[in-house]
Amino acid sequence: MESSFLQSVYYENGILNILDQTKIPEITEFLEITKIEDAWEAIKQLKVRGAPAIGIAAAYGLLLGIKDAPENSFDEFYSVFKKQADYLATSRPTAVNLFWALKRMDDCANNEKDLPVARIKEALENEAHLIRTEDEEVCRSIGEHALTLLHDGMGILTHCNAGGIATARYGTALAPLYLAQENGWDIKVYADETRPLLQGARLTAWELMQAGIDVTLITDSMAAMVMQKGWVQAVIVGCDRVAANGDVANKIGTYGVALLAKAHDIPFFVAAPTSTIDLETKTGADIPIEEREASEITEGFGKRTAPEGVKVFNPAFDVTPHELVSAIITEKGILKGNYQEELPKLFKK
Ligand code: MRU
Repeated sequence: MESSFLQSVYYENGILNILDQTKIPEITEFLEITKIEDAWEAIKQLKVRGAPAIGIAAAYGLLLGIKDAPENSFDEFYSVFKKQADYLATSRPTAVNLFWALKRMDDCANNEKDLPVARIKEALENEAHLIRTEDEEVCRSIGEHALTLLHDGMGILTHCNAGGIATARYGTALAPLYLAQENGWDIKVYADETRPLLQGARLTAWELMQAGIDVTLITDSMAAMVMQKGWVQAVIVGCDRVAANGDVANKIGTYGVALLAKAHDIPFFVAAPTSTIDLETKTGADIPIEEREASEITEGFGKRTAPEGVKVFNPAFDVTPHELVSAIITEKGILKGNYQEELPKLFKK
């Protein structure tokens, strides 16, 4: 099955199925998760990754955590629910979709609080499914809007993986590329390798090749040269959190790509479902940036490439200031200009 059509996260018969993204491209293997602790671990270890997929996995993971919660009273049930939701919220700090999905589940539990607890559990399962199915529609819409900013014959650079496996389907940044292909367009994609965990090399290159899209893998340090050569007419990336002023957190290295795009007068587009927009976070400086194990840099993928004991700084994300963002593409339309003013309007539509 083509990777853009692979469901990387789904829930069936009380089992959370997760495509283990740490094994790709060598092995396509699904984990069958039945315990909330294993769902937490899968998120933490990037077995499931990408902001929307993390949100979906958290919603399903929560179902595992409340399966055996007491059914005598709402209060007893809710105290277990809250504890489990708070626990999942500690898995990764940057992608706001995690907190957004847990909040949706919380709202659902509270809205249904007068029902017997067994029915509340059913409502929560439906809500988790809805979070997944809505994301599929959202990604398709993002793709349709983004396509209006692109054209046949273009070279497009992307960073990290904001593809089908990072979402319910299609991806965010990669969605227009699949639609361009459906239209018969001839596009050339440059995929940044994305140090240190190589989401671009392992995942984006894999996804796009499976779909038959022309993709060229480059290391992150080659992006400047590829732009200088005139091979790139647009950059499109996904994101983990958009602050109220339009600053955007995405995979480490994205800020550098945005600066390069500016220097070469290339538009820099950010694909963002509204579930990734966080109006409560005022600016990029307020976005919590995850720092990960030094070993990802010193001995990534099992091979030591730096001296023992060297000091390491390993932030998983950086923030691109809104001034560098040419447009934010959401499922509700394309925003340009004053993001501070435009972003809140999305939530009134
Ligand atoms: O650490 P990761 O692999 O979860 O980081 C993923 C990204 O930065 C993606 O670009 C982002 O989550 C958008 S996925 C549609």
